[in-house]
Amino acid sequence: ARRTTTRDLHELYEAGIPITMVTCYDYTFARLVEKAEIDTILIGDSLGNVMQGQDTTLPVTVEDIIYHCRAVVRGNHSALIVADMPFMSYQASFEEGMRNAGRLLKEGGAQAVKVEGGRAVAPLVEQMSAHGIPVVGHLGLTPQSVHKLGGYRVQGRGEAAGQELLADAKALEEAGAFMLVLEMVPTELAQKVTESLSIPTIGIGAGNVTSGQVLVLQDLLGMNQSFTPKFLKRFANLEETVTEALGAYRDEVRERSYPGDEHSFD
Ligand code: KIV
Ligand code: NA
Repeated sequence: ARRTTTRDLHELYEAGIPITMVTCYDYTFARLVEKAEIDTILIGDSLGNVMQGQDTTLPVTVEDIIYHCRAVVRGNHSALIVADMPFMSYQASFEEGMRNAGRLLKEGGAQAVKVEGGRAVAPLVEQMSAHGIPVVGHLGLTPQSVHKLGGYRVQGRGEAAGQELLADAKALEEAGAFMLVLEMVPTELAQKVTESLSIPTIGIGAGNVTSGQVLVLQDLLGMNQSFTPKFLKRFANLEETVTEALGAYRDEVRERSYPGDEHSFD
């Protein structure tokens, strides 16, 4: 199958077909994401939490994103690959932002990048788009601003905050963003934003009104049963599956029932 393009995603949007997105950070899962026919993959800076065990996404580097992106691209040949611009790879200057976005495409093999923020990043988004780099926006809970926001909480509650978020969304569309992630916002606001734009919105904790959904792969697979934000549905219990398999391996090794003759060479 050929790789999904931004045009393909826009066609799904126009047809009213929900766009499916998951995060992915490695080759092994990237293969399975292809088998499951997921439309688009995000190499999220959530890899700081999920792959590295960091408390926030702030320590993640451009090198980290490139490393994981290259592994994902080798394992998946059908999804549109979006790479997150990590904290401080685009905030300090225009030029740095452009060069780092370019690295995610040239070295990482991504087809698009994602940046957090609204009007503050709109000029950069415009520059990227003008130079042929497709950009996904990200509004609502923007984890790179966790210290300013004072925690991982719902954003855009109330009339004033809602209007601000809507203005940010319109600025991103105007600047040329081809898609917009809405994270942890009230459903009513997500609906208003979605109806006001002519680019697809991708929700995570934004209700069932957006043009598509995204979840962190390990979260939706239930690999950490103690991570239970309200928006998350665990579609499997891999924590249990994996722990049980490892326990079976441990027992069989200890009791010398594995390896058997069928696993051994003459
Ligand atoms: O890094 C990430 O996983 C994300 C998604 C939650 C949208 O930005
Ligand atoms: Na992210």
